[in-house]
Amino acid sequence: MHCHIVPHVDDGADNMEEAIKMLKLEYAEGVRHIIATPHFRFNMFETPLEKVREQYEALRREALNIGEEGIDLYLGCEFHVNMNMAEMLRDKKVLTMAGSKYVLTEFSGPAPHSQIRERLYSLISRGYKPIIAHVERCAKLRSDINFVEEMVEMGARIQVNAESIMGKEGFGTKRFCNKLMKADLLHFVGTDSHGSSYRVPKMKDAYLYVAKKMGEEYAEQIFIDNPARMIKK
Ligand SMILES: [Fe+2]
Repeated sequence: MHCHIVPHVDDGADNMEEAIKMLKLEYAEGVRHIIATPHFRFNMFETPLEKVREQYEALRREALNIGEEGIDLYLGCEFHVNMNMAEMLRDKKVLTMAGSKYVLTEFSGPAPHSQIRERLYSLISRGYKPIIAHVERCAKLRSDINFVEEMVEMGARIQVNAESIMGKEGFGTKRFCNKLMKADLLHFVGTDSHGSSYRVPKMKDAYLYVAKKMGEEYAEQIFIDNPARMIKK
């Protein structure tokens, strides 16, 4: 539910060949449904939606032919925060997750409390369900689990990267992920994969780790049931 697999639209997959390689890796990891989340960020990633949809559609057709079962590909967006998010979503300039009310919301690392609270509230108050993308990178949330809890109580959801759970971003990050799980403040795990060789799409190890640490039922909730809510029509 968080990956940059659509080719030619952001800093993710460079071309269709690379995107197909990523799909094959995902399939081997046991993944059968993917919500692709190209970046939208002013002055950095502003690929016209028409082009994003075109590239997505080409990849969606390829995904159906991966492995024996195929992969269902859906379209979402990693939406970097700005002042007009709700209006842009309403006007369909930026996409929610697979047409649902969920919005994968990205903050810059040093974003202050006031900005995090205000941006999330503006989405929630208009009926959207913001998911804080890789929360482990947000200093103000990472250093204060009570603030994470406050945002979840307000209606935000929390995502971490699979590699962070596995300790690839350092021990402190891994410990924070564990803390989130124990406090029942984690809702989604994504790969945030940008290619087949850097931050590769590995989900299986993270699933097995969470199942061992927190129980099979918990792992199923985070890796299967919660993301499935975004693609149920
Ligand atoms: Fe991302």
